[in-house]
Amino acid sequence: MSIQRTLTTTTLLTTLALTSLNASANPQIAKANDCFRCHSLDKKIIGPSFQDIAKRYKDEPGAATKIADRVRRGVVGVWGSTPMPAQPNISDADMNALVKWMLTQ
Ligand code: HEC
Repeated sequence: MSIQRTLTTTTLLTTLALTSLNASANPQIAKANDCFRCHSLDKKIIGPSFQDIAKRYKDEPGAATKIADRVRRGVVGVWGSTPMPAQPNISDADMNALVKWMLTQ
């Protein structure tokens, strides 16, 4: 195997490893922040399912920013009369990853 080919293969494998790491990191963030206490992927619990949320906002430009803001400050009246408490302690990086993950469920 030429050096160049080895390098290409290594780069590819690193990219794949990072991609899968990222994909699994996002539900971890949701778990770590207790989101699954009230939400699940595909069923309404106390809050709407992440799939319903993704469906509702998938064609809306700027939805990610709006959602991040609502998760931070808390929200009520969008899906029903049960409020979601504010989640002010999530870092920007975690929130970005979390919202991206939610919108692709
Ligand atoms: C105590 C229960 C509870 C927890 C914990 C909770 N949620 Fe919610 N969530 C709700 C409820 C109830 C609603 C619906 C609020 C409404 O109708 O306006 C909601 C709505 C949402 C929405 C939809 C907002 C919109 O604009 O339509 C998103 C996104 C969301 N939650 C994400 C999260 C994330 C991410 C976490 C974890 C950081 C989390 N929730 C934790 C109860 C909860």
